[in-house]
Amino acid sequence: MTVNRAKSAAFSAALEAGKFIRDRLGNIKQIDYKSAFNIVTDVDRASEKMILEILKSEFPDDSYLAEEGGGHEAKKTNRRWYVDPLDGTTNFTHSYPFFCVSIGMEEAGQMIVGVVYNPIADELFYAERGQGAFLNDEPIHVSSIGELSHSLLATGFPPDTGVGKPHNNMVPFTSLTNLSHGVRRDGSAALDLCFVACGRLEGFWELKLAPWDIAAGSLIVEEAGGKVSDLCNGPLDMPTGHILATNRLIHDEMVGEMKKLDLK
Ligand code: IPD
Ligand code: CA
Ligand code: CA
Repeated sequence: MTVNRAKSAAFSAALEAGKFIRDRLGNIKQIDYKSAFNIVTDVDRASEKMILEILKSEFPDDSYLAEEGGGHEAKKTNRRWYVDPLDGTTNFTHSYPFFCVSIGMEEAGQMIVGVVYNPIADELFYAERGQGAFLNDEPIHVSSIGELSHSLLATGFPPDTGVGKPHNNMVPFTSLTNLSHGVRRDGSAALDLCFVACGRLEGFWELKLAPWDIAAGSLIVEEAGGKVSDLCNGPLDMPTGHILATNRLIHDEMVGEMKKLDLK
């Protein structure tokens, strides 16, 4: 079955690349800047090469969208892979141990398989549409906390937040900090989503993420019983990249806060 082949290719790629990244922690050979504060390292690029080689050897005719540019639009099948070879590059560059590999596979416009691997904690999160979500083979579920005031949340900011006018996410960041147990900014959107899925966080939101940041994690949240939407409670729109993911129970309260955002 294609899904089983896809799952096993995604597992191999995530595990191999994740172990490679972990072994290179503290041993970066080249750092480049995509813009003022947006870092890319030789490890991001090598990880992407490794992942794409594994996936393409199994699925040569599929389309690939990969952060560091190694993907291509094949259009020979209705499958597309989303690859973030190192989500949390800023953390990795500073040896802050919170980063992962994220791989998602979409078929006919629907996410079917999501795999996120944190090589430091050796945690492999995955989901297959309709089959639930798992962490190292154990089923996971979102938390049962029903009030925002008892919730732990996370958000993120793009690397160039400090350039230009203050980022408009500062408004909900401040208000939700005051309305909840707190808002973490941990620097890996894919892991933040997995933490919602396994009940370590009640909610996560961010603006303008890229498809490779959220493809795998959003399926993992949904399959764990959570809710994923855009910030106004509409369907998730990958090209816009505004995302709100919760344990479902606090979704409406969070949407209320998101309405205070200036989304222009
Ligand atoms: C970043 C991380 C971070 C998020 C940024 C992303 P990268 O991805 O997911 O948590 O806040 O918006 O760009 O660049 O480390 O792959
Ligand atoms: Ca990313
Ligand atoms: Ca990345």
